[in-house]
Amino acid sequence: GRTHYYDFVLKETNFTRLCSTKSMTTVNDSFPGPVIRIHRGDLVYVNVHNQDDFGVTIHWHGVKQTRNPWSDGPDHITQCRIQPGTNFTYKVIFGEDQEGTLWWHAHSDWTRATVHGAIVILPTQGTTYPFPKPDGEHLLVLASWFAGDFNEEYEEYLSNQTGTSFDDIAFTINGEPGDLVACGGETTHRWLVDYGKTYLLRIVNVVVNSELFFAISEHNLTIVGTDGTYTKPRVTSYIMIAPGQTMDVLITTNQSLGHYYMAARQFVTFDPSITGFNNMTATAILQYRGNYPPPDVPSFPINLPLFHDLDSGLGFLSLLRSLATPEHPVNVPLNITTRMFVTASINKVNYTFEGTEVSHFAASLNNITFMDPTSSILLAYYRHTSGVYTTDFPDYPPSYYNFTGDTYPPPMSVLATKVKVLNYNESVEIVVQWTNLLGQGADHPLHLHGYTFYVVGMGRGNFNNETDPKGYNLVDPPERNTITVPKNGWVALRFLANNPGVWLWHCHFDRHLIWGMDTAFIVKNGETPETSILPPPAYMPSCAVQSLI
Ligand code: C2O
Ligand code: CU
Repeated sequence: GRTHYYDFVLKETNFTRLCSTKSMTTVNDSFPGPVIRIHRGDLVYVNVHNQDDFGVTIHWHGVKQTRNPWSDGPDHITQCRIQPGTNFTYKVIFGEDQEGTLWWHAHSDWTRATVHGAIVILPTQGTTYPFPKPDGEHLLVLASWFAGDFNEEYEEYLSNQTGTSFDDIAFTINGEPGDLVACGGETTHRWLVDYGKTYLLRIVNVVVNSELFFAISEHNLTIVGTDGTYTKPRVTSYIMIAPGQTMDVLITTNQSLGHYYMAARQFVTFDPSITGFNNMTATAILQYRGNYPPPDVPSFPINLPLFHDLDSGLGFLSLLRSLATPEHPVNVPLNITTRMFVTASINKVNYTFEGTEVSHFAASLNNITFMDPTSSILLAYYRHTSGVYTTDFPDYPPSYYNFTGDTYPPPMSVLATKVKVLNYNESVEIVVQWTNLLGQGADHPLHLHGYTFYVVGMGRGNFNNETDPKGYNLVDPPERNTITVPKNGWVALRFLANNPGVWLWHCHFDRHLIWGMDTAFIVKNGETPETSILPPPAYMPSCAVQSLI
């Protein structure tokens, strides 16, 4: 493969959306940020120059970073922040089998709302897609738009934790909210297509706190890939996509010459009547080239589900299957050596913030609300430093957890920095059980760094250890790096722990992430990290200047 070099310059730039202008942090002055476009088997170096006034890290979402956790990016997990006025070069090592669409984003605070971009991995040079070669390609990045200054609001959020402040005020498609919002019309994203062609459309959900529905008026979508893997073709009139996920779809331009809305709408699982929810839809336009009178209004996708359509949202999740061909094989672990049962929950927690004792909402995995360490877990692991984390993340939840029982006030969780240690090549199965209060919570799109996993089962209600495993798909389960734990349901994942390192596992709703719905896996390969992972780069950002939030 080839080696590619990118320079990412992070700084504040002015952007105007929804009739008002604000300054925000972007990479190379673009929103969304630059696309990394490579072939399978290539290597990428990205030199990140931080010209903003706060520290950041960048994560290469879904990239396996084989034996190279040093460049994975999550703040406090594999590195500390790149301080203002300094730079850091990431060596981005893709898994040999990765092909399709992934993305990159800031992984320090909520800066990822504006610091993100797509990664396109084309087939190895000289090979082609496992479907007829498309006539063209296009990329759609679905993102959040916030009204205020990012870091101020984040700090305020950390201190009062009301759970309702700091909501997106719009969504965007390739940086534009579209013409259903004020001042959106003129700059609406337009995708120009020719009649009678087949296009590969790569869709990335980088939204901060919401799952989305997406559809194109009058055009079916044929799903062919997700999260940098190929799937069996599946024809659908809409998709549901969680933050962190990507979806590659084919569309055929066989409708009458005209303008068609492409629309992304929030999918929420909680009862919208009890929150200050506003029903937001971002639009872009699919526009046929040709000589025809432009329509007054593009047609709207009637198949785009309504925002609280649980059956369409959760039902969509059962559609996907791995491609499972000799060229793109499935390797589901069959003899499980490590089994975990993990509850994903919203809780309450007591702790001290800037000297005051506060009690507020928290989130947890197995009732542990993850507390960021003050330095990096990877560095502590590599240098055999004690006192930064403990290795007693529980394999099972405390027994009093029963998600069908309404609990209010919500149970207290334990605030701690606990990680789970796995040995090399262990076959891991994790069943994640949704657990929440009063049945009003959100889904949890859980993302694992450094790996893809197979989604062997998913269901509603309480996981039943006797009957549910009988229904597992061990033949062609979808391979993902992010999967929704459905509200009032469970999901079963399997992976082979063949990538030594330190890998974060967390809910990709940033609100739940900062509430503590995360932990890390340390995957060993023998007792000496020095020989199981690549050596650290010559320069790593210092952990000494971190703030302790
Ligand atoms: Cu998309 Cu931990 O990240
Ligand atoms: Cu969550």
